[in-house]
Amino acid sequence: MNGIIDLRSDTVTRPTDAMRKAMAEAEVGDDVFGEDPTAARLQERVAAMLGFEAALFMPSGVMANEVAIRLWTRPGDEVLCDAHSHVVDYELSGMAALSGVIPRTVTTERGHVTARDVAASKRPRTYFRSEITLLVLENTHNLAGGTVTTAADMQASINAARERGLKVHVDGARLWNAAVALGCGPAELVAGADSAMVTLSKGLCAPVGSILCADRDSIERARRIRKQFGGGMRQIGHLAAAGLVAVDTMVSRLAEDHEKARRLAEIASGAAAVRVTPPETNILFVHLETPKAQTIADRLLAGNIHASVMGDSALRFVTHKDVSLAECEAAGAAFAEASKAI
Ligand SMILES: Cc1ncc(COP(=O)(O)O)c(C=O)c1O
Repeated sequence: MNGIIDLRSDTVTRPTDAMRKAMAEAEVGDDVFGEDPTAARLQERVAAMLGFEAALFMPSGVMANEVAIRLWTRPGDEVLCDAHSHVVDYELSGMAALSGVIPRTVTTERGHVTARDVAASKRPRTYFRSEITLLVLENTHNLAGGTVTTAADMQASINAARERGLKVHVDGARLWNAAVALGCGPAELVAGADSAMVTLSKGLCAPVGSILCADRDSIERARRIRKQFGGGMRQIGHLAAAGLVAVDTMVSRLAEDHEKARRLAEIASGAAAVRVTPPETNILFVHLETPKAQTIADRLLAGNIHASVMGDSALRFVTHKDVSLAECEAAGAAFAEASKAI
């Protein structure tokens, strides 16, 4: 890509030739009038893949999460979630601004809010304390380093939440990566949840879009909320056509991205004074003993390698279709070199 090995995110991926053709040829209609046949097909396809009754195309993962939070809460409620979940760290306090709720965070090791955390969040029900009404789980977990939560652990937390009377939303922006890493279907990871969102525009390479899944009545309510948030769109079949190619043909190749991250990590871990957590999927964090992340990122960029600075002493590399295995190996070697003598 322009001579740059861009490892900032899997969102930088360009649509494939098959997607561009499908977009050009898509049958479309006005989706605000419920008349776009390609969007309807994609929604049905993804709902079936995830084991839900219905689904709704969203312009972004953030909107899908925020619509779900609005769906399942009332102003004054609290949302149980990991302290570094996407809904906390990267959605501009959207839950407070848009739904009038605040996060009740749990510090976790790998980003997963366990059944035990859910049980521990219980407190006496009394009129002068706000209520936790929603649990948000994130799988894979971005800031924990693309960590995967197994179907058994997802089930345990979902069951614990339901026993407590909480709704459950799964932020599955990279649920596809979790399913491929575990060798299971995505539906197994969200079974029993009230809603789940998956993204088309990350490792699956579609240009735009996430899908929110839930029961049919809740999706009709979500359609109204999406419109209120300004997300009612017209001929989205052009985008949905790329989404269909994404879900039909781009899931199993994610294993290649995981392999690229493993190789990058292996080579990068040869550097002195760094801690490299072996990646479980396509996201790799390297932690430095010195607060020189920006210096290293600048050195890498001088060699045409783009990584994300995640605070003073951490860098993030995300592998994807548009970087080759050889480029990831080169990035690992460049990182080892750049982190010398800092
Ligand atoms: C875990 C997670 N959830 C939600 C999102 C938001 O997706 P979008 O960028 O499409 O709004 C991201 C984006 O990186 C993410 O990593």
